[in-house]
Amino acid sequence: MHNRRIRLGLLTGGGDCPGLNAAIRAVVKYAQEQHGTEVVGIEQAFAGLVEPRTRPLTYETVRGIQAKGGTILGTTNRGDPYHWPGGDGAETDVSERVLENAAALGLDALIAIGGDGTLGIARRLDERGLPVIGIPKTIDGDVMGTDGTIGFDTARAICAEAIDRLETTAESHDRVMVLEVMGRTSGMLALEAALAGGADAVLVPEIPYDRDALADAVARRRRRGRTHGVMVVSEGAAPWGEEPPARARVPGRGEVLLGGAGKVAADAIAARLTTEVRVTTLGHLQRGGTPSASDRLLAVRFGAAAARLATAGVRSRLVALRGREVVDVPLAEMVGRKTLDPGGELVRVARAVGMRFGDERPEARA
Ligand code: F6P
Repeated sequence: MHNRRIRLGLLTGGGDCPGLNAAIRAVVKYAQEQHGTEVVGIEQAFAGLVEPRTRPLTYETVRGIQAKGGTILGTTNRGDPYHWPGGDGAETDVSERVLENAAALGLDALIAIGGDGTLGIARRLDERGLPVIGIPKTIDGDVMGTDGTIGFDTARAICAEAIDRLETTAESHDRVMVLEVMGRTSGMLALEAALAGGADAVLVPEIPYDRDALADAVARRRRRGRTHGVMVVSEGAAPWGEEPPARARVPGRGEVLLGGAGKVAADAIAARLTTEVRVTTLGHLQRGGTPSASDRLLAVRFGAAAARLATAGVRSRLVALRGREVVDVPLAEMVGRKTLDPGGELVRVARAVGMRFGDERPEARA
């Protein structure tokens, strides 16, 4: 047992997702129940350590939040202390200030809940002396070193439900309905949702498509009497040799926000066939609202594991799912973003049940 109270900092960074609050609550509950540890909530991700903005997190402040979407701590994907946006548009490195403020707050460790961006920043701070335990979250499911991330299950269910809904209106109007979903450079969300929703085609970043092949797949279906369909398009998908369209650039990160890939695919079909095509962009509906039971469960397990490690003085670890087990792995394992294996089981299953990826050889027109 410890002789003095331990003080943990807790932040959520990057895009929000369902399940963050359940993880926050689990950290606080574990800390209080098991060790009498203090938890300091850091607001707006690392911004709350650049200009300190914190609040004590007690059981009272987290009561009942496990079912609430978003994050009570606030977040931002524009707050990288290594590339801090200045007033003049220039970027500066304010990471030293973050370390000083963490020390001034008396933080024994920082629990960072984030995707690859947030966890990468946290890892760099850990290397410079601030002990970090990471918790992976993202609807994209692209964090290396773990088989699961908080938020993915809920987003996948929302996408699958959207496919169900588009199917009935597609059938009524004999249309091809294109559903654009998020995922950045990973097609995991698109493919898993497409399989769960029984979509006819899916376009993912890892498998560039061919406009003619795509239109040919739709035409062939039509010749077989299947005159409507639903196609899921990951925002990172693009035709061979092209980049996916961007909707904005994130200041201070140089990162491009994707959007418009669904329209590119729809235009390719509309230019070649008389079939009516409509595009739905699911957008931030994928990230809002109540977390699924599965995401809440993962969040509680990850939160408790992170609090256990942090209070035991362990550092530089990422809590992770391996199979069905919660384990912890070196933060350093989390390098780069996970993507779909184009020859992997999920893609093979999808092809086996007739799902098109737009890379099939076009058949000679009958
Ligand atoms: O990483 C999560 C994510 O939702 C991506 O799928 C998407 O590309 C991006 O964040 C959107 O970011 P923003 O909320 O800044 O528009």
